Amino acid sequence: MIKKNYHLPLIAALFSLVALSCDDGRIYPSEPEEATGGKAAMQVVFHGEEAWPKEYIFIFAAFGEEGKIPLKSKIISRPEDVNIPVAMMLNGLNEETKTISIAVVNKGRELIYDFYSYPVDDLDKEILLPVTEIDLARYDRVQQQVFEAYCIRCHGAGTHAAAGLDLTAGNSHKALVNRPATLSKEGLSLVAPGQPAGSFLLEILREDLIQYNHTDVLPEAELIDLVETWIRNDAKE
Ligand code: HEC
Repeated sequence: MIKKNYHLPLIAALFSLVALSCDDGRIYPSEPEEATGGKAAMQVVFHGEEAWPKEYIFIFAAFGEEGKIPLKSKIISRPEDVNIPVAMMLNGLNEETKTISIAVVNKGRELIYDFYSYPVDDLDKEILLPVTEIDLARYDRVQQQVFEAYCIRCHGAGTHAAAGLDLTAGNSHKALVNRPATLSKEGLSLVAPGQPAGSFLLEILREDLIQYNHTDVLPEAELIDLVETWIRNDAKE
């Protein structure tokens, strides 16, 4: 089990540790540190680390009004020990900053998925965000980064659902979890919680098994890993 109460001295110690070890590979400043401007600091414990972004980029970032491209960002590197909180800092925040976020962006730094967003109103004092736990393979991320981005144009609601499968928000979970796959010759479920190997959804994303081949539907293998991690961790809603 992971302890939820991290003591303040530990937090302070971790921040100083990170401040002293910017070149250890864990946190890469995307620009030189700046003495002026606002500062934000945060600690996060990550779960579901098999779904750590790879081709996509995982950042701690400041977003402005428009919210699509970060004003400032630092790449979050995968920690060696995932049970230890990862400490992150941003410097030189300007008054355009509206939120501090933990997000997945693409190579053009466009926002793909926002895990956490904290509204900022006062940049005069250092913003110390609460310690948070983040499940990298949470269902909402699967819904947005996979189903909504690549599936619902065919698996929409009502009569627009190929194979009668509705993967739209609010419907996909009950359409998938513990439901029989009509096209599975072995009688698998679409999603069997805790059992990636018994989940037809994952099978067709990896193997050419049904008439409409699904193996090229997702542009990055890590999106399949994301679905797999969600299923292995019990396909919670
Ligand atoms: C271009 C249209 C299209 C896209 C995009 C698409 N599908 Fe499909 N899907 C189909 C069709 C058509 C079938 C039925 C294939 C057949 O009858 O062999 C199907 C079947 C399925 C099935 C089998 C259903 C069952 O009951 O056995 C699953 C699961 C599925 N799709 C999931 C997905 C997921 C997840 C995505 C996105 C990653 C996706 N599909 C994207 C067209 C699409």
